[in-house]
Amino acid sequence: MKKLVSISDCSKEDILHIVDLAEQFEKNPNPHLLDGKLVATLFFEPSTRTRLSFETAVQRLGGRVIGFSDAATSSSSKGETLHDTIKMVSNYVDLIVMRHPVEGAARYASEITNVPVINAGDGSNQHPTQTMLDLYSIKKTQGTLENLTISMVGDMKYGRTVHSLLMAMRYFNPTYHFVAPPELKLPPQYPEYMRANNIKFDEREDMNSILAETDILYMTRVQQERFTDLVEYEKVKNTYTLRNSMLEGTKDNLRILHPLPRINEIAADVDANPKAYYFEQARNGVFARQAVICSILGLV
Ligand code: CP
Repeated sequence: MKKLVSISDCSKEDILHIVDLAEQFEKNPNPHLLDGKLVATLFFEPSTRTRLSFETAVQRLGGRVIGFSDAATSSSSKGETLHDTIKMVSNYVDLIVMRHPVEGAARYASEITNVPVINAGDGSNQHPTQTMLDLYSIKKTQGTLENLTISMVGDMKYGRTVHSLLMAMRYFNPTYHFVAPPELKLPPQYPEYMRANNIKFDEREDMNSILAETDILYMTRVQQERFTDLVEYEKVKNTYTLRNSMLEGTKDNLRILHPLPRINEIAADVDANPKAYYFEQARNGVFARQAVICSILGLV
């Protein structure tokens, strides 16, 4: 891989390589692999986990980070174009990590620079490094990526982590349940994609109906920031809340994932359940991002 802007660009071998590397980084931290390397983290949208885990990943490998966490503190607030920002930052660094609200922004950035670009989330489109850490988390908890039943609950429309993960799993024969209110169903290109790739899936509104057969329960936040009409957000924001009592009768191997942040779609009483895995999942982000960075820079 020379860049990572969409998970659809990754082969099965690419994905398995990153998952294996993540495991190696977790077992054997290599504190000098990025000595002398400089990475830019350009966050035009808010972030806690993605930016901080990227920065942790780089610094724990001996590299250094420059960047901004708020576009208002960059010259984009004065009207500088994304084109010019990328051209400028390319003069300074070995790798660019970028989050941007516009779908396709990371692809655009990658086409105007020779510096490798990693997409840290572009609007509702893609979040491929989240997918790599999700896959690593699934492999760690299930022992395999193959033949799993994955239920995704919440915002299927705007949830970029949902979109990336459903595409990545095409190599591993998943069975999907997508649970959402009608307003937040998957955009039509994703059912089309799954049909074209022979992925088994259904779409429904009732979360309780899928719990007993699920291996991975992937909860998601309703993405308030993507709504143009907040009345519409208010209508759907509390559609689903997973409570501890609902986990009775679920499979022993069930694990609950969530890209985070959560609002109220997972009740606090779930946190102590051994099936809750979302905080460990976020920790896995450091190892998965170390794997992606070092792979793209040709260091492993
Ligand atoms: N999962 C994720 O992208 O979290 P942040 O928005 O905090 O980076």
